[in-house]
Amino acid sequence: MKKVVLAYSGGLDTSCIVKWLTDQGWGVVCFVADLGQGLGKGEDLGTIEKRAMAAGALKVYIKDLQKEFLDDFIVPALKAGAVYEGKYLLATALGRPLIAKHLVAIAHKEKAEAIAHGCTGKGNDQVRFEVTAGILDPKLEIIAPVRIWEFKSRDEEINYAQMHNIPIDVTKKKPYSIDRNIWGISIEAGILEDLANEPPEDAYMITKSPTHQVTYPKYVEVYFEEGIPKKIDGKSYSLKNLVVHLNEVGGLHGVGRSDLVENRLVGIKSREIYEAPAATILHTAHKELECLVLDRELAHFKEIISLRYSELVYNGLWYSPLKEALDAFVQSTQKNVTGSIKLKLFKGSCVAVSRKSVNSLYKKELSTYGAEDKFDQSLAEGFIKIWGMPYKK
Ligand code: ARG
Repeated sequence: MKKVVLAYSGGLDTSCIVKWLTDQGWGVVCFVADLGQGLGKGEDLGTIEKRAMAAGALKVYIKDLQKEFLDDFIVPALKAGAVYEGKYLLATALGRPLIAKHLVAIAHKEKAEAIAHGCTGKGNDQVRFEVTAGILDPKLEIIAPVRIWEFKSRDEEINYAQMHNIPIDVTKKKPYSIDRNIWGISIEAGILEDLANEPPEDAYMITKSPTHQVTYPKYVEVYFEEGIPKKIDGKSYSLKNLVVHLNEVGGLHGVGRSDLVENRLVGIKSREIYEAPAATILHTAHKELECLVLDRELAHFKEIISLRYSELVYNGLWYSPLKEALDAFVQSTQKNVTGSIKLKLFKGSCVAVSRKSVNSLYKKELSTYGAEDKFDQSLAEGFIKIWGMPYKK
């Protein structure tokens, strides 16, 4: 029997896909990637596995990929300062090439001919899955049932699931489309599609409203070693615990929300809101530290790289030669990015208030207006004359 490996979430779409592919003659192997979306919290992993089997799967793989996600995807993006269109910290986009990598690996192990996903034909995620899979194994067939199947609405899918005894929780009305992992949450559709609507409070899952009654600020000091966050308030954490911890404290203080009308790769503008407390805190702190330790030319050039890097991630080109080359550049910029940044979190804001680094290029004796000034101000006159000369002429 020809086999296909499906990226399975446990939701309505991918559960229907299992049955739909089975009816087309495929043996379906399901792969559930744990990227910290809270698997096993709301419903246990056993339920997800049982649902896949009930829908007709041959086998279910569930893998905890959080460490690999943090080490190989999130940390490089953090070092690169990758932020899409100024607001999106790329949680969803970073997860896709990792899931695709494992889909391909399982396909090889299972001697499968194809991989499948539950993305629609309008989004970025289909591109990320398929371009990545195509780079890693161009021979694998890719099936995207949602782009081609007969169902026109969620209700039709629910009918189909009920007809075939696929155990789906249809009681929950789904007001939004949500993608979640340890680096952040992406929330779209429903009433958010009308740009006139302010996102209602209940759209947010892990951040408190900045107006809620925490009346005191929270200080967090993040220590980085060569661009990698290692400690909070002097205490060492594994990357996973560090991010989990910062999601909690940041979320409590309303940090990390954003609301963006973004440019999808497929040419559509779409509105999405994001929650990424830890990512916001870490990007802010990392950037502040770079302000201290990178010289002007490198810092300014790196901003251009950050922009291009974010586009490559967003556009599904994680495993591209340019992205690999940019990683090498970024890595070379990080050797001095060691030090501590203390941030103040308060009612949604996150700002640096204190900075320390052994590699700091800030020299108080040069910048001071006090008596310990070592800067020879008399040199400024000649410098300005030469600098401004072409414009005067
Ligand atoms: N707009 C984001 C991206 O393209 C997230 C896409 C998935 N969003 C969702 N709510 N399912 O990376």
